Amino acid sequence: MTTMTDAFTLPCGATLPNRIAKAAMTEGLADPWLRATERHARAYRQWSHGGAGLLISGNVMIDRLRLERPGNVAIDGNGGVDGLRNWARAGTEAGNHLWMQISHPGRQTPRYVTLDPMGPSAVQLDMLANYAKPREMTGDEIEDFIRRFAHVAVTARDAGFTGVQVHAAHGYLLSSFLSPVTNRRGDEWGGALENRARFLLEVLRATRAAVGDDFPVAVKLNSDDFRKGGFTHDDCLQVVQWLNDERVDLLEISGGTYEQPKLLGVDGRDDSAVERKSTRAREAYFLDYAESIRTVAKMPLMVTGGFRSAEGINAALAEGHCDVVGLARPLCTHPDAPKQMFGGRMTTLPSFEHDLSLGDAQWLGKNSHLYVIKIVHTIGQLGWYCLQIARLGDGTKRHHYGLWRATFSYLMDEYVTAFKRWRASRRPAA
Ligand SMILES: Cc1cc2nc3c(=O)[nH]c(=O)nc-3n(C[C@H](O)[C@H](O)[C@H](O)COP(=O)(O)O)c2cc1C
Repeated sequence: MTTMTDAFTLPCGATLPNRIAKAAMTEGLADPWLRATERHARAYRQWSHGGAGLLISGNVMIDRLRLERPGNVAIDGNGGVDGLRNWARAGTEAGNHLWMQISHPGRQTPRYVTLDPMGPSAVQLDMLANYAKPREMTGDEIEDFIRRFAHVAVTARDAGFTGVQVHAAHGYLLSSFLSPVTNRRGDEWGGALENRARFLLEVLRATRAAVGDDFPVAVKLNSDDFRKGGFTHDDCLQVVQWLNDERVDLLEISGGTYEQPKLLGVDGRDDSAVERKSTRAREAYFLDYAESIRTVAKMPLMVTGGFRSAEGINAALAEGHCDVVGLARPLCTHPDAPKQMFGGRMTTLPSFEHDLSLGDAQWLGKNSHLYVIKIVHTIGQLGWYCLQIARLGDGTKRHHYGLWRATFSYLMDEYVTAFKRWRASRRPAA
């Protein structure tokens, strides 16, 4: 019977020392030139010694002009290889794997980062006017981005990262190409699912060709966008069958977008019609989806979202629903939680979501005016965790902020970082 301490060998031949992965979490710790810093190294050293067999970085950007946050690391002609090496060295100190998550935010890049987002089509994200209208990418830009994903993967490998994960979930660029809501193109990159999936498949082919056969290449994919007319679970099952031919080493199952933040277990607007009742009954909210994906997937599966007990993790592994379990929020405050679980000292993972939540306020999701409260609340929760990651990077103790203080501090940090980045973009790198 598989348990969380068992090693796992991937199709490419690399072996993970155990079944626990730190899932990707945006760090926001880059310098104003978007290069990795000592703060990355400090945070990842703690996670490395914390016991997880696999650490996946926060999303690293392929385009320095369009970021998910102003503090993202980007690999786009801005140097910074020494910082990446330092990060990779620190993040693998305990013999674990460290993979770089490679991403482009598409239309989900805030106005304080850019007023010129790009997407498959000019469909704007409607959230507190914080996101400018994207322009439709040209075919040449798509081809260029395919090359950039591969280039960033090679840069990661050469700097000492032991694998890469292509981010095709959560409404970011590759995910937005998959969805008919955001992809309204009439060319070979839009329309039928086969066309909408082309960008992702081409990125994977280019990445695999660039890094070689023995280097782990993973994908993070939505099980469902939970959006009427969007990328559905049936679409996901079809895409997974195509991915079967692409030598994917690990497929991570997640779900949702900024508008439907199901990745955090939070309900979005008007989603009652698309929610599966059974998912709510389980600690890990994408396990039901993983079960059906398992029936078509030939590659190993990782499931992330909601795991909060050693018992729940071991059950998911023992019942064969997945091969690796991803943990995110619990590791912001307790980077050594995996080690503590392995030693039997921790059976329930720390969870602050309830303290930060508005309770089971389903009515908020059904009223379009009150929905604003929900958005602010989700930003505040994310901000609370982002501030904890910054503390790991600074090597200081964790904070005990409430939701409103976290929201305010996080947003102030974001604006200051955006300003520093803007100022830096006007002078040569230090
Ligand atoms: C602060 C924070 C930052 C995140 N950043 C990313 C990211 O960069 N890339 C990504 O794929 N998911 C990101 N996520 C989503 C997590 O990887 C994960 O899917 C989600 O938090 C659910 O797992 P959990 O219940 O263990 O926290 C982030 C989540 C949090 C809380």
